[in-house]
Amino acid sequence: MTGSDVRDVALVTGASSGIGVEIARLLASRGHNLVLAARRTELMEDLAQRLRNSHGVDVLVLACDLSLPGAARSLHKQVVDSGRQVTLLVNNAGATLEGRYLDFATAEQTGSVNLLAVNPAELIHCCLPAMLERGDGRVLTISSLGAYWPCLPGITVYAGSKALVVNLTRTLDAEYRGSGVRFSATVPFTTDTAFIDTPTNREIVGRMPRFMIQTPADVARIAIDGVDAGRIVQHTSVVNRLLAGILKTLPPALVARAIIAFMSLGRDDIKASRS
Ligand SMILES: NC(=O)c1ccc[n+]([C@@H]2O[C@H](COP(=O)([O-])OP(=O)(O)OC[C@H]3O[C@@H](n4cnc5c(N)ncnc54)[C@H](OP(=O)(O)O)[C@@H]3O)[C@@H](O)[C@H]2O)c1
Repeated sequence: MTGSDVRDVALVTGASSGIGVEIARLLASRGHNLVLAARRTELMEDLAQRLRNSHGVDVLVLACDLSLPGAARSLHKQVVDSGRQVTLLVNNAGATLEGRYLDFATAEQTGSVNLLAVNPAELIHCCLPAMLERGDGRVLTISSLGAYWPCLPGITVYAGSKALVVNLTRTLDAEYRGSGVRFSATVPFTTDTAFIDTPTNREIVGRMPRFMIQTPADVARIAIDGVDAGRIVQHTSVVNRLLAGILKTLPPALVARAIIAFMSLGRDDIKASRS
């Protein structure tokens, strides 16, 4: 296959739902060809068909479980083997495990770290060499305000994994500055997607002021604007930025006690950790 036969694409993980769907829509509306990756292929095939019809873009759907070791490498290989090259990588897929550490098998906890941190990092490792060779490329990773909490009891490995990708983004920006490849991490807080439709989150969100809950379309637009503007870390609202600043100054033990007290209202397992 010659260089001119290779098709430039934006690879969006977690494109079957929520923020990933909105990012895919936005990119398609700007004429980007896409690769959509997640586990639920029917949802992505449906979205792909709608994007082809309305924007005339090429869309490839790939099934992958990014909680599995090596999933990023195998996903990237499928993209390359299909004659495509990733010019914009969007690491968006994510989920939480609600409960204390031992409530889940070791494979599940490891899988969560794979999904949130290891596979996103590995996808960047796979895509970066060709981007550097071309002197052009963009990497967007969807982190979370969770990255700024000193600890988050009840979703044990989430905060640390999300912190890793923010730190990785800043570090890669420093290491590859001037190369033509730009790195951006977006930091949303509560966004109205299936992600917050869990017993604990419903309880927390129910007590939050409405203005703090963002739509996935807004988060997608702000994230892509952040990439366009070359912002290394893009908070999705002023409130989130302020919260991130405050959280960094709080003592971890105090934060842990407050979270456990707050979350225990609806959570027997967390309540048990206080006794
Ligand atoms: N919503 C919020 O309040 C919020 C706040 C801060 C950060 N975030 C972050 O935003 C990102 C997108 O979440 P969302 O709010 O749009 O939630 P969502 O609607 O639940 O979407 C999550 C996406 O991730 C994919 N995914 C989950 N597990 C996967 C796996 N093992 N392998 C491959 N794909 C997987 C899901 O696809 P399949 O199930 O089809 O695999 C889905 O497409 C996540 O990284 C999340 O941490 C969300």
